[in-house]
Amino acid sequence: MIDPHGNILVNRVLKEEDANKWREKASNLPQIKIGEEQVKDVKNIARGVYSPLKGFMNQADFESVVKNMTLADGTVWPIPFVLDIDEKTKSDLGIGEQVILADEDGNPIAVMNVRDLYQYDEKDVAQNVFKTTEEAHPGVKMLYDMDDWLVGGGIELIDNSKDPFQEYNLDPSETRTLFKEKGWKTVAGFQTRNTPHKAHEYLQRCALEITDGLFVNPVIGKKKSGDFEDQVILDSYQHLLSEFFPKNRAVMSILPLAMRYAGPREAVLHAIIRKNYGCTHFIVGRDHAGVGDYYGTFEAQEIFDTIEDLGMDILKFEHSFYCRKCGGMGTAKTCPHDKEDQVGPSGTIIRDMLSKGELVPEDIMRPEISETIIKSDNIFVE
Ligand code: ADX
Repeated sequence: MIDPHGNILVNRVLKEEDANKWREKASNLPQIKIGEEQVKDVKNIARGVYSPLKGFMNQADFESVVKNMTLADGTVWPIPFVLDIDEKTKSDLGIGEQVILADEDGNPIAVMNVRDLYQYDEKDVAQNVFKTTEEAHPGVKMLYDMDDWLVGGGIELIDNSKDPFQEYNLDPSETRTLFKEKGWKTVAGFQTRNTPHKAHEYLQRCALEITDGLFVNPVIGKKKSGDFEDQVILDSYQHLLSEFFPKNRAVMSILPLAMRYAGPREAVLHAIIRKNYGCTHFIVGRDHAGVGDYYGTFEAQEIFDTIEDLGMDILKFEHSFYCRKCGGMGTAKTCPHDKEDQVGPSGTIIRDMLSKGELVPEDIMRPEISETIIKSDNIFVE
């Protein structure tokens, strides 16, 4: 089994009796209210999804990640995971103290040991991480919406509940066990924030020709308007995997995480997370985790040539399409025909047709998948 990133699978989930002790003490401790997406980050840290992170970043790690794409100790890490607080909250905290991280309803989620309180230059972070300072970029907008102070320190998880989609929400230790039980020595991780079209499926099938198993791992969390709703992604993949893939060759579990749309840097994060889940291979196609025209089509592949080897194979795919002359899927590597014969999956066409209740042409999306999507009450994020 592949080693987790940084060689440790972090586990900061408290035993139930210890969690209960913290629940009792919680009202006597300072509290930081965290939003839904931060709750996901806290749980991911505790469950080892972000191994080797054990908490929210201190200043040294944060600055090193922003500038060098590594933690302060040199381990590759591309995206800051930080906890922002306002001036008032900051003034109530002291280094070395413990603070309860509570959700919006006041439920204690985790306890944090405060190790660092610091500020940051948002434009500098935006330029380094997102390669733009434009607020039109949804990841930059999230960054600019953050409060002025950051608090760093290790966390321990009090609330280990798994809503929503509990049945599809496996921890890295659980996926590792699952892959082992299935006898998979090699596993290809597939990142997605979309319902499956034929090009996605082509990449997955190509990967399965060389690996023992496929791990479909959709990102479930805050997305931008016009993206698919979480439930629709799960329903359509459930259908695809059960009807069109051999049993015991593909599994799905969710990755609860807000998309940052940081293109190349996000691809590195996506790969590291899948390594933690136990994947030996990771699929990166065109425009991976991109948005608008901020990144080159293959920048999310090229970045892997500039960082230290992650110890996993990055499966890089060119733009994939259905070719009418070939009568099948392919890329420029396998199909010699003209552009007029090559039907690529256009996000705009897919969205337009599905929102009108129409089936997307078969060379772009399986009719069964279109039908599953159309049946849903809410297809797109508003
Ligand atoms: S992403 O934001 O999660 O990257 P999406 O769910 O569409 O978006 O993509 C999932 C994976 O499929 C990514 O690795 C992406 O690069 C790849 N991909 C999507 N469409 C194509 C295509 N037509 N050709 C090649 N790769 C593709």
